[in-house]
This record gives sequence, structure tokens and C-alpha cells, in this order.
Amino acid sequence: MKRLMLTVIVLGTMLFGMDGEAVFKAKCASCHEAYIPQAKLNVNDEKNNTVLKLKAPTLTELSFRLKDQVGDRTTDAEGQTFEIEDYLTAFLKDPTQHKSILPKNVRALFPPMKPVQASEEEVEALADYMYGYAEKMMLTHGVKRYAYDEALKIAKKEGKIVLIEGYLPYCRGCIWMDRNVMVEAPVKAVLKKNFVWVKMNLLIEKLPLGMKRLGTPSFYFIDPDGPQVIDMMEGTGTVQEFTEMLRDIKQRVHR
Ligand code: HEC
Repeated sequence: MKRLMLTVIVLGTMLFGMDGEAVFKAKCASCHEAYIPQAKLNVNDEKNNTVLKLKAPTLTELSFRLKDQVGDRTTDAEGQTFEIEDYLTAFLKDPTQHKSILPKNVRALFPPMKPVQASEEEVEALADYMYGYAEKMMLTHGVKRYAYDEALKIAKKEGKIVLIEGYLPYCRGCIWMDRNVMVEAPVKAVLKKNFVWVKMNLLIEKLPLGMKRLGTPSFYFIDPDGPQVIDMMEGTGTVQEFTEMLRDIKQRVHR
């Protein structure tokens, strides 16, 4: 029976893999906090880490940087996760041997990391978890997203505007918006009050109402009555610029 149990456990790990979150909690989380809003981090970075006194960069920072700096960010998720796994295997053995993936100002806040022991399975699980964390952080800390059809119904019922954000998975400006703008409180407040948010991957999804796509990130505003296009724009903006733009659109539609 014992033997059978063991076989089942081993098989289970092979089939479903280890739990990356659990490995991260056990081996990395004592130094790497998961998520701190970017606005707070910016203040802390400017003040030389004297505000938050972090031991290490956050998991959010690591996740975004791994996706941006390791391997080919235009390949599929699985391909890049393999490259991240190779990178982590080497990095954890000897953290000093590698050019840092962190921005200079962030790297400068911390002493070099010490080697951490991790098995092949653990690193595999960590690579998956760390790759996926950026997206998970958006879902946890961002405003709720809807599918377009559902968004139209809700917007109509609640007198709101549908906002479609068009993105590409590897577009740096889109990621910058995800990290710095879409999760910040003032943006979330305006979005929640007056808009219904839809995120569309323009690589695989087509915009509704025959709209031609702009560059990414781009924002398409739709009045659910009609439905008709109110406006569209492309590019990035700060929290203040983006909230002002949202307020402006709202005023134009519901005066
Ligand atoms: C004792 C504290 C500590 C632990 C535990 C720790 N780290 Fe770190 N880590 C740091 C510090 C400090 C830095 C920033 C300095 C650096 O980059 O070497 C860092 C940086 C990193 C970086 C970015 C490296 C770069 O500069 O390019 C990665 C990736 C990373 N850690 C992964 C992990 C993983 C995965 C684990 C768990 C298996 C882990 N760390 C455990 C302290 C820690």
C-alpha cells in the first residue's frame, strides 16, 4: 500500500507538476514580496528603499522582467517558460554570474542575492509560476474584465461606456500600462464607475463594429446605444493623463 501511495504521488507530480506558488513561498518569499503597487514602489526607489525597506525586488517586478528580458518574448508562453527555466537554473546556482535582468535603479537598492538550492522540478514549477504571476497580478489587482457581448449588456443597463483595450502580449507599452496605470486606485475608481472594461489580444481577436485596429496599446470607446464608436486612441499615459482622458470621454457622452 505504501508503495502504491508513493507511485501515485510521483505520478501526480509528473502529471500535474509541482505547485510553483508553494515552492516560491517556501524558498523565495522570505525576501521577495509578491505585490506592492507600482506608485508606492516608485516612491521607495526614489528614496533609496528607506520607505519600504524591502529585502529584494517584488515578485511582480521579477515576473515582468523575466518576461521582458529572458529568452524570446515574442514566442508562445510555453517556449519562453522553458527559457526562463534554464535561466533560473543557472541563476539560482550562482546569482553573481549573470547580467542583471533588473533595471539599474532597482538593482542598485539591493546586495547581490545568494545561491538558493532548488531541484529541477522545483525550478520548473517556479518558472511556470513566475512567468504567470504578472497576468495573475493584473487579474487580482486590476478592474474586472468582461467579454465584449457581456460588456455591451452591462453598459447598456448601467449607463456606462464600453472600453476595449487592444493589446499584444509582447507589446512593451501595453505591459507598462498594465503595471503602472491599470492597477492604480484613481484609474480603477473611474473605470469602475463609468466604464465596462474589455481586454482584447489583437493578435487573435477582431475588434467589433468594423473598427480598424490602431497600434498598441489602444483604447476603443463604445456607446452601448447603437452600439456606436465614440472615439479611439493609441499610446500610453500616466495615471493622471489616463484618468483625465477617461473623464473627458465620459463628459462627452453624458453631458
Ligand atoms: C535571502 C533573500 C533572498 C531569497 C531567499 C531569494 N532571493 Fe532572489 N533576490 C534577492 C535579492 C537581494 C535580489 C536583488 C539582487 C540581485 O539581483 O542579485 C534578488 C534578485 C532575484 C532575481 C533577479 C536577478 C537579477 O538581478 O537579474 C531573481 C530572478 C530572483 N531573485 C529569483 C529568486 C528565486 C526564484 C528565489 C527562490 C528560489 C529567490 N530569488 C530567493 C534576495 C533573495
